[in-house]
Formats: sequence, structure tokens, C-alpha cells
Amino acid sequence: MTISTNPAGDGPVSVDEQRPLRFADRTGPHGGVPHGRERAPIQVGLLGCGTVGGGVLRLLAEHAGAIGDRCGARIVVRKVLVREVDKARVPECDRAWLTTDPSEIVDDPAIEVVVEVMGGEAFAGGLVERALRNGKGVVTANKALLAARGPDLLALAHEHRADLAFEGAVGGGIPIVRTLREAFASDRVESLSAIINGTCNYVLTRMREAGIGLDQAIREAQEKGYAEADPTLDTGGFDAAHKLVVLAMLAFGARVDRDAVPVEGIEGLDEVDHRFAERFGYTIKHLAIGRDRGDSIELRVHPALVPSKSVLANVSGVLNAVLLEGKALGPCLVYGRGAGDLPTAVSVVADVIDVARSIVAGVAGLQTRSIALAPRPLRPIADIETRYYLRFTVADQPGVMAKLAGALGDAGVSIEQIVQEGRPAEAFGPAEVVMITHRAREGAVRSALDVVAKESFLLRPVRLVRIEAA
Ligand code: NAP
Ligand code: HSE
Repeated sequence: MTISTNPAGDGPVSVDEQRPLRFADRTGPHGGVPHGRERAPIQVGLLGCGTVGGGVLRLLAEHAGAIGDRCGARIVVRKVLVREVDKARVPECDRAWLTTDPSEIVDDPAIEVVVEVMGGEAFAGGLVERALRNGKGVVTANKALLAARGPDLLALAHEHRADLAFEGAVGGGIPIVRTLREAFASDRVESLSAIINGTCNYVLTRMREAGIGLDQAIREAQEKGYAEADPTLDTGGFDAAHKLVVLAMLAFGARVDRDAVPVEGIEGLDEVDHRFAERFGYTIKHLAIGRDRGDSIELRVHPALVPSKSVLANVSGVLNAVLLEGKALGPCLVYGRGAGDLPTAVSVVADVIDVARSIVAGVAGLQTRSIALAPRPLRPIADIETRYYLRFTVADQPGVMAKLAGALGDAGVSIEQIVQEGRPAEAFGPAEVVMITHRAREGAVRSALDVVAKESFLLRPVRLVRIEAA
């Protein structure tokens, strides 16, 4: 994981193999017990013990001494909620901890910190709410829940003087929540461009570099523990949208209706799009974009062509990256592993340490109180301005190019480059025409495409991919 305020962007960055924990636990001068006066251990309950929960138990066990030193109290696991107690678990999971009764965690007065790593919205949300009402600190990696109910849960945490921490919810192991909440506390975020879905980035990388199909690449991401329980949340762009809503809370102080964020996934991209992108000097990435426009904010999630030499083009595999632009700071890049058991557990356990520290210091709830939110209108997608890659699958017959150019020209959209590829053997067979436009309003581009859609020479829906500077 790296944080850089001078992102140079040279050379590919790719890490996909799971790294074993190689370092020995470092115990401080007090052998893992608090400095000075001994405080009773902080008891933790986990809701869920799957990919992330298993990583959390592993880190808590293997780094117990150092974590105790850093918190000023030992952290001990008391209970772990699961669906099936008989399932195989990581060796660090003591079977005596397992329960299927959530009240043994959220209603147990001995438990001071609840770690929600089960996923889902209604059930998990109800338990988080109950834990906060009972005055417990809550750590969650559940971005779907935060995107749906984050502001209300933060208000509840505030009311009950409890912390609600969620570093693991965005960017897996990268400290983007802390960066926004703490490092940017003195600045204003003007924009962010982010690769925040490890599965999509892994799938796009594998399709481009290994030439494998979408389904096989998704299966690989599932085997590596990157994908959501329902992987269409990843490939449909919804997981990235949930994370963008969480980032918008911290970056722009915005309370956003997550269903209003324009979202496109990666399912519609064909191998031919990667090939054309490369030919024009671009790489296709799945991006989440946020911009503060003063009277409104721009939020959108979609595949995009980014220049092949740019920083984001070279973030490969499961790596995530968030490129922030601060008004005073300028660019700041945070990148590292964006999914998987141990990377995400690093963020979750760091949150447990923070929440435990506030409890030990008697200032529980302080972190949560620093987040101020207000509703902010979203700029309609028709009003955004960018450049576009347009791929038309057409019957290769005279006059087609003129009609395509004419429709765009009539809408005030200027063309920068045109390529037609692979004249087929049979006359008037299908051909791919790709155009790169100059900057244009999306509404204008869409109205030109509506005109083209009525033409009989168009054989498939037009593929539109936005081009971002990144
Ligand atoms: P997972 O492997 O599917 O684990 C879910 C765990 O929750 C399992 O232990 C499951 O119990 C338990 N669980 C689910 N529903 C339950 C219910 N109704 N009652 C009792 N226990 C229940 O999921 P995961 O990948 O660890 O993800 C967990 C959360 O972290 C999700 O919100 C996800 O979005 C988020 N997250 C995941 C990653 C990642 O890389 N995987 C990264 C960042 C954030 P059983 O084991 O008995 O089935
Ligand atoms: N499914 C998510 C991803 C997990 O692939 O990014 C990390 O939030």
C-alpha cells in the first residue's frame, strides 16, 4: 500500500497472489499489556466469520501483543456470529466463540466493540443499529449498508456517543477513509477518480492481459475471495457505486441517494473494445468519479478509457487506487490491495484499534462526530462534459460514415479521430467504426445516438465509453 502526493504513474503495478503473514508479532515494552495501569481487556464480538472475518481473527491472534500495546488494552474475542457453526473456519477461530444467536453479541454488556463483517443490508443493519443503541463501538466493512443508511447510522452513533468506523468498506486495505477524514481535514477535496472495485479491476486486467473471457475471470476473482457473495454487485458497478457514496460523504460532506448515482458495469465491454482502446493509446478501467461543482456534485461509475501512461491505467489486478485532488494539496494518490481477506482485515483491525483507543481514553464517539453531512444535489449525467469513445457496428455500405458524422455534427459533437476496422469478405457485411470525440455535453452525444439508432445500417446498439484524463 502506498500513499503518494506526487503520483508519477510510471510502470505497471500489479499484485494478485495472496501473501502469507511473514512477520513475527512485535510486542512492546509491556509484552502486549497496557502501559502503566492495567485496564480490563476490551471484548470484541464479530458478526460474520467468512473471508474478511477469518482475516480479522487471524490478525488479532498473530499481532495480539502489538495490538494490545497500541490500544492500551488487550483485545479479546468473546463471540462470533455465523450461519453454520459446523463449517470449517480459519484455525484462529475458537469453536467455543461460535453462535447463531446475534443477541449474544449485540446485547451482551461485556462486549464493547462489535465488528460487522457479514454483509447484507436489512439483518446486518438491524444488528449494527442495536449495537450502537447499546453504546457499543461498531466497525463495519459493509459498504452496501453504509451507502443505504450511513448518515442515519452515523447520527445514531453520535446520539449514543459511540464510534462507527468503516475503513474496510472502501478500497479494502488502503487507508482512504482515514486519508479523507484526517489528512484532508484541513483541505477541501475538489475531485476524485478511483478504481475501487478489486473484482472489476482484476477481471479487466485478466481479460486484457491473459485474453480470458468475462465468466472465467469472475470465477478466478471469486476463488481469490475478492467478489461479493452476489458477484453481479461487482460486475454491474453497484459495489463501486456504494463505495463512491461513502467517499462522497467524507470528501464532499454529501448525503446522497445511492439509487440516483449513474452506474454502468463492465459486462457490456467486448474484447474488441480493449483492442481499439489500445490502438488509440488508452486502457479501459472501471472508474468511480466524484467532482465538487459548487452548486452540485458530480458522481458517476462506469468503464472509462484512460491514457495508457496515466497512473490509473497502471493499477492492475486487485489493486485499488484513489486519486484525490485537494484545493490546497493538489494531487494525492492512495493505492494498494483493494479486496481479499488479509488486506481488508488490516483496515478492519486498524478500526478496532482506533475504537478501542477512544474507549480507553474515555472519548468514545469522537471520530464519528467529526463527519458532517448535508444533502447535495447530483449533477444530471446529461450535463457532464467529457470526451467519448463510440463504437458503431454497421453494415459496411456507402454513405454510412457520412450519416454517422452528420448525426454527431448536427448535435454539435465534433469528431477527433475515426477508424474503421476489418472490411469483411462479403460485401456490405458488418464493420466496426470507432470514433473518438472532442469534449462534448453527454446530452448532445446521446441525442445524436438516438438519431443513429433509427438507421437500418446500425446492426447493434452503439457502445459508448467515456474518456477520462485520470
Ligand atoms: P463472506 O465470506 O460471505 O462471509 C460472511 C459471513 O457472515 C459468514 O461467516 C456467514 O456465516 C456470516 N453470515 C452471513 N449472513 C448471516 C446471517 N444471516 N446470520 C449469521 N451469520 C451470517 O463475506 P465476506 O467476503 O467476508 O464479506 C463480508 C463483508 O465485508 C461484506 O459486507 C462485504 O461487502 C465486505 N467486504 C468484503 C471484502 C472482500 O474482499 N471479501 C472486502 C471489503 C469489504 P457462515 O460462514 O456460517 O456462512
Ligand atoms: N467485492 C469487493 C471488490 C470487495 O471486489 O472490490 C472489496 O470491497
